[in-house]
Amino acid sequence: MRELFAGVFGPGGTVRHFMSPGRVNIIGEHLDYNGGYVFPAALSLGIQALVRYHDGPQIKMRSTAYPDERIINLENPIVNDGSGGWWNYPAGVIRHLTDSGHGFTGADILFDSSLPEGAGLSSSAAIEVLTACVMLRGEPADDGERIRIAVLCKNVENRFIGVQCGIMDQFAVAMGKKDHAILLKSDTLAYSRVPFNLNDHSLVIMNTNKPRKLSGSKYNERRAECDRALAEISKRRPIGSLAEATMPEIEELADDILRRRARHVVSENSRVLASVDLLKKNDLPSFGMLMTESHRSLRDDYDVTGFELDALVSASMDTDGCIGARMTGAGFGGCAIALVKSDKTDKFIESAGAAYKKTSGIAADFYITDVADGVREIPGQ
Ligand code: GLA
Repeated sequence: MRELFAGVFGPGGTVRHFMSPGRVNIIGEHLDYNGGYVFPAALSLGIQALVRYHDGPQIKMRSTAYPDERIINLENPIVNDGSGGWWNYPAGVIRHLTDSGHGFTGADILFDSSLPEGAGLSSSAAIEVLTACVMLRGEPADDGERIRIAVLCKNVENRFIGVQCGIMDQFAVAMGKKDHAILLKSDTLAYSRVPFNLNDHSLVIMNTNKPRKLSGSKYNERRAECDRALAEISKRRPIGSLAEATMPEIEELADDILRRRARHVVSENSRVLASVDLLKKNDLPSFGMLMTESHRSLRDDYDVTGFELDALVSASMDTDGCIGARMTGAGFGGCAIALVKSDKTDKFIESAGAAYKKTSGIAADFYITDVADGVREIPGQ
């Protein structure tokens, strides 16, 4: 990549190297804007950046995946160009950092990603958090700094990009720890890092390869439905977030859609806490069952799965060695995960892949990746 950098931006100077992981959410979906618990982990797949700082007002950005160079001029207002292009994410981070009082000079930045884009593994959070560290010229000094960066990047997503996401992705990418998942309470940001040890099982990440078109607007629609359910329940008993509702309160909701959305939120929240306990006790079969229940709830109550994710999850469940499977991330396409006996993963990938292809006509991609550290600088050679 250093050769590539010199080829693109010219040789010389000090070039620094940063890495930001993607994330997978183990369980706890669509809870991070409902005050619930989530349980994500950072991945060894991610986005790297090489950077050389210089004087002058220009930030030149290139991605190894796309042909053209993107230039941000720090003397001009930084705005979202509405194209949906990747450069809007770093642009938004630079804008928010500048607005919060940071002063920058120019830089040449080359991005390179091993994360499938639009697959629900948080390539957007990865590039946001990565850009923050690149611009701040170092990895965060401590967890407090990591959390501040995560919150800033979430605000970029909400205000600059226009997706009303919660904090989970940016938090996981900034705070990840090798071989640990993070139990995060999304409203207070109380967190603990829990050893993530699957013993003789592996977590297989499976990309449906169905692009998540419309995911932004559908996502915002779910969020609005949850806000309405919260407002309804709060008329009788004021609660701070939908995750605090009780099942009897939810069953009293007159609107069927709101009732189902809220039911997912509350049932999923208890599944997260139960999963963490089961994993601590090493009870993988019961944890696998909760994964599968989570998928059912996302399919039947929350309505964010769709044909391809359902097909991939059933193909997985029908395959020998798999003890649990669910979609992960926002849904509407993207990735699912399966818990598979490690000595059966090769066969699993072959058989589940063939069954999914038969039903959907699409070839899925499979990844077995490690759980890795959060954003970091990689010391120069
Ligand atoms: C996306 C969002 C997250 C979270 C998940 C669903 O990844 O960015 O904030 O809401 O969907 O759990």
